[in-house]
This record gives sequence, C-alpha cells and structure tokens, in this order.
Amino acid sequence: MNASDQPSMGLCVKLPLPQAELQELIDKAKDWSLMNGACMRSKKNFNRDTLQFAPFILIPSSFPRTEFNRACEIQIILNELMHRVAHDYEFLKETLKETIKVDTFTRKLFDIYETVHSEGFTQKVSLGMLRSDLMLDTSCPKERGCSQNHKPYCCWKQVEINTIASGFGWLGPAATKLHKYILQELDRTNELKNLPDNNALQGLCTGMIDAWNIYNDPKAVILFIIENVTYNICDQRFHEFEIRRLNPSIKVIRRTLSELAVEARLGPKKELIVGEQTVAVVYFRCGYEPSQYPTEKEWDVRLLIERSLTIKSPSIQYHLAGAKKVQQALAKPGVLARFLKDEETVQQIRGIFTGLYALDFDEHGENAIDMGIANPERFVLKPQREGGGNNVYGNNIKTALESMKDQQERSAWILMDRIQPPLQRNYQIRAGSDTDTEMKEVVSELGIFGVLIGDEKNIIINRQVGHMLRTKLASADEGGVASGLGACDSPYLTD
Ligand SMILES: Nc1ncnc2c1ncn2[C@@H]1O[C@H](COP(=O)(O)OP(=O)(O)O)[C@@H](O)[C@H]1O
Ligand SMILES: [Mg+2]
Repeated sequence: MNASDQPSMGLCVKLPLPQAELQELIDKAKDWSLMNGACMRSKKNFNRDTLQFAPFILIPSSFPRTEFNRACEIQIILNELMHRVAHDYEFLKETLKETIKVDTFTRKLFDIYETVHSEGFTQKVSLGMLRSDLMLDTSCPKERGCSQNHKPYCCWKQVEINTIASGFGWLGPAATKLHKYILQELDRTNELKNLPDNNALQGLCTGMIDAWNIYNDPKAVILFIIENVTYNICDQRFHEFEIRRLNPSIKVIRRTLSELAVEARLGPKKELIVGEQTVAVVYFRCGYEPSQYPTEKEWDVRLLIERSLTIKSPSIQYHLAGAKKVQQALAKPGVLARFLKDEETVQQIRGIFTGLYALDFDEHGENAIDMGIANPERFVLKPQREGGGNNVYGNNIKTALESMKDQQERSAWILMDRIQPPLQRNYQIRAGSDTDTEMKEVVSELGIFGVLIGDEKNIIINRQVGHMLRTKLASADEGGVASGLGACDSPYLTD
C-alpha cells in the first residue's frame, strides 16, 4: 500500500500553522530541547563536548485512548510472559535449535547460556527492563471490539519486545514535557490532560535501585555497559543522575566490554569486581550486536559477567528470550498456554500478535517463502538482530528470499506481516534541516516500558513504568531516532 492510500488521523491542533507563528514556535521548541537535555551527540559532526537537540515532532501525534490504556495494562502480562520464557530452558533450546546452527551471534549467546545453565546460576535473580514496541494497525479485523468510534478504525499490534538496552527512558518523558510546553505556547492548556503522565525514567531507575537493594551491599556500584562512542548520551546520563537523585549513596560507573575485558574479575564469592569496586547491578546498553564483540575477549567477559553474582539487566536468558525467533514461536497456536495460566489471558496476548512465520525447512516454511516472494510488500523479513537497520522490506524481500530459499541460512530469519499504521501530517524538526516548516506524512511507534525482578520461582516486582513514542516519515521503513530516521514524539490521547 502506498502512503497516500493509508487512512489518516486528525491532530489536536489545526495545521498548518501560520508561517510566522510556526517559525517562532520551532525556534522556542529547539531551545527548550537544548536547555532541558532532550539532546544527542551528532553523528555527522561528532564532538564529545557538544550536544544537539534530538529530532522531534512538533505537535504530539494522536493515539486512541482505549488502545493506549490497553497497551499499558497488558504490559504486566507481557513482563510475566517474558520472565517465564526466559526461565524455560527446554523452550529456548528447542526454539533456537535451528537458528543457532546458522547464526553465529545467537549461537555464541546460547553457548554462554548453556554454560551458566549447566554450572548453575550464581545469581538467580534477574532484572528485566523491557520495552514492548507496537504500532496501530488499520488493516486488522475489528476483533477486539475497541476504538470503534475512532476514525480510522485501528487496534495496535506488537512490533517486537526488547529485553536488552531498551532505550528512551529519558527521551520518552522528555518529549512529553516538551509537548506540554508547546501546547501551552499554542494556548491549548485545556488539552494538557490528554498527554498522559510519563514516569519512565523514574520507573526504570527505581527498578535498578530495587535490584541494588536486593544485592544488599551498601558499597557496591551499578555498572552501565556502554558502546565505544555513545551518541544517545542523555538517554544514559539522565538515568545515572536519576539514580543519584533517588538514592544519593549509589554510584554508577560506565565501561565498554573491551574495558571490562581488562578490568573485570570475579571475587571470592563470584562477585563482579571492576577495579576495586563490587558491582551490584549491570545494565547493558550495548552487547546486542556482533560488532560490539570485536574479539573473543569481549565474549569472555560477557561469560564472566553471566557467571558472577551481580544482578544483570538482562541476564543471558532474558537476552535470548527477546530474540525475534522466540517472538515468532510464541505466536504459534497453543504455545502461549505453556506460559500463561488462563485462556482469557492467552486470548488477550494472541490479539496483539500479527502474523509471524518461521522459514524452517518444512511445509510451513515453504509456504511462508512462497507468500513472501508473491507479495513482498505485505511483509517484513527479520534476522536475529537488534538495534535497527537489519530488516528487509518491499521488493528486497523477494530478492532475499529467492537467494536464501535453498540455504540453511533461511532458518535464522522470520517473516512478519507488515503493520499498516494510520497516517498523520506533522512537522519533523531535525538539527541542520531546512525543511522543518514543511508538513510531512508520518507514522508512529509506541513503546511501553516494563520492569520485572524475580527468579525462576518467584516474581518479586512486576510493573508498567511509562512509555515512549517515535514517529518517522510514512515513506521510511524504519524509525530509529539515533539512526537518524525517527523523531521523538509523545501521544495525544483521543476518544
Ligand atoms: N511488522 C512490522 N510492520 C511494520 N513495520 C515494522 C514491522 N516490524 C518492524 N517494523 C519497523 O522496523 C523497525 C525495526 O524493527 P524491529 O523489529 O523493532 O527491529 P530492531 O530490533 O532492529 O529494532 C521498527 O521500529 C518499525 O519501524
Ligand atoms: Mg525495534
């Protein structure tokens, strides 16, 4: 479907805005972002000492209230589901069996899991900091009986669930604050009630502090594992500042996997020790793609961390539970019942899945390959990767499927129905752009944050803690903000 064929949704402010008012508003909003830390480091003109505002959408995108509330409510079940999946060794092994034969990266993660599973986990408690990503779908049948009054009719479908490095805990709430300011500037204070509260930063940091308390060593630190160069720096430092604010005695340290390969060791009780500091909690903001493990040393240190007493977000089993192959396996008929107790909950979760297809060497796999080749525009083809820029779209799906049809490699990929989100028209504001004042057709992706702490038997904490919205040009396949295609946004709830 072309962007122009898709149904569109209205906004809270009548657009276009008059040019003079628009330019003034954009300038103010840019300065608000700069002065409140809704920022990033530039990839194009990288300078560690300089920030620029993160790209943003000028007017908050509309989102049906019932669907937003449903997404927040369901997060608790998704958290529990992911926790159960992460603790089901047989399920993970069976699900990833074919994938790890051909995908070295997933295999290396799985090898670490096998090792710590067979040795017995030193730390039984995991800290899950999850983000479930979803899009409204205008092509879904009216099965959930919701948002019937909303034009166009749409209900949301899950894009994926992230179990590692779930970002935008800061930029999500920052966009809500920015939009509150913008609506005030536009004399729309009566609309502020439709921008839902967003305490994602506090919620995620409270989760880390809860885990730190469980570890129970007042001198121990929290370790953020980071990339060699962090562009999305505000979205990490604000977590660090928030932890200090919530508990002034907790120190956060930051290291790359390569630095840890030199500095990290295990103490007498298998504590993770970095330099002289014991680590209570590890938060991976990196470690989800092959380039982040340039040598075997980074893999060795990942194993060392998994063997240690530190509480990990994610632990290796949580990391694997977030694989796209696992998402596809969960969508197979009958599978959810293994993890969720009652039929009603199973139906609720089934309702958020869109079609997901394995590409194994069997009848189902052959059918999926044929489907993808015949109608590539109806699907997204995905490998077992995170972080954006890895999926295949449109006609490239046809080419990719034709070339991998007879290769073992195909079982490392999944095919997914392409979600058709409603269009909106809005202004996308980017540093250095000269087209800020032009209205563009855009589509949004909502992320809901969840925090869970528990071990195989017990769930100690299970919370929904906030949200983030990313909006991209309707013509773009992907919408990563750090990758340069998407922009920070916040939902304006409509009835
Ligand atoms: N089924 C889908 N329908 C429409 N767009 C999708 C779909 N799956 C992914 N996308 C787009 O591609 C982006 C990246 O896909 P995702 O599955 O989230 O992978 P990653 O782990 O790289 O973030 C999403 O943010 C979304 O914009
Ligand atoms: Mg994603």
